[in-house]
Amino acid sequence: MTNLSARMELTERLEALRASLPDKVEAAETLEELAGLEAEAIGKRSLVAQARRELGTLDPDARRVVGRQIQETADEMARVLTARRTVLEAATDATILERERVDMTLPGRVPAHGSLHLVEETMNEIVDIFTSIGYTVARGPEAETEFYNFTALNIPATHPARLETDTLYLDYGDADEEVLLRTHTSPMQARYMEERDPPVYVVVPGRVFRRDALDPTHSPVFHQVEGLAVDTDITLADLKGTLAYFAREIFGPETKVKFQPDHFPFTEPSAQMHAYALGQWIELLGCGMVHPAVFEHVGYDPDAVTGFAFGMGADRVAMVRHGITDLRYLFDPDIRVLRQFR
Ligand code: DAH
Repeated sequence: MTNLSARMELTERLEALRASLPDKVEAAETLEELAGLEAEAIGKRSLVAQARRELGTLDPDARRVVGRQIQETADEMARVLTARRTVLEAATDATILERERVDMTLPGRVPAHGSLHLVEETMNEIVDIFTSIGYTVARGPEAETEFYNFTALNIPATHPARLETDTLYLDYGDADEEVLLRTHTSPMQARYMEERDPPVYVVVPGRVFRRDALDPTHSPVFHQVEGLAVDTDITLADLKGTLAYFAREIFGPETKVKFQPDHFPFTEPSAQMHAYALGQWIELLGCGMVHPAVFEHVGYDPDAVTGFAFGMGADRVAMVRHGITDLRYLFDPDIRVLRQFR
């Protein structure tokens, strides 16, 4: 091949490439396709690269002419490729932006949060009233022995409350002692005093169990708050003052209270306190001066200390405060019952 024909051929092939590339570039849909076209047009193995290598075989005049043609062709193709790359990159960015778009106008997601059950909330409030005047809080076992539930509280062996018709006994195999579901929070009086010396000022919130059918005013599971104050010179006046104060804190300052004689084996004298609140008389709690026999059971000297005790139903207090007329609503798993009181 002569110098001339070689030069002609190279020139034609460069012209052909320059003529065909723009359409191909325009048709490229992806950056990868475009990179392929770029390699083909101006890469290391491209016609442009090959032409540059062959320049050396041409005579100086031809080299200048062909050299300029190669450079112009390369520049032109680079411009076409760059223009298309700009378009494709913008399109890619737009796709990513669209995919990752955050709609700031969407309403937020409010996390669902629970609330305390009315009875739990009421027990907390009852306990708070007493802790604010110096009482501590204790909790006792729900599975209790016959001794603490009855005997230590001076409840005679023949008392009907001990019968299986009233109390739920647990089958503990060959336990030394009968184990039962506590029928009141009072056993904690004995447990608490056994563990420490007087003075004692304590409240005990908790769940209690009785063999009762569920009806508007009874449930086999319900809640009590027990209270116990023991010191060297506690009188019935302290009992009345403390419990009247409590009634006014929980139901409001206008609340009236009255005490009616009652009987409990673990107190003497014993009373029932009623409160007039929210337009009705409510039988609020049982109370009394701690019976000397209870002090003896726990190792306190009945001549050295006196005390008062009380026990109230927390479910009843919750019902009165929230205007609930049927106890069963409190233990109904229908969430709408509780939602009303949020
Ligand atoms: N434990 C009694 C009951 O469940 C309530 C009670 C009465 C508790 C008098 C006391 C009390 O501490 O002194 O009916």
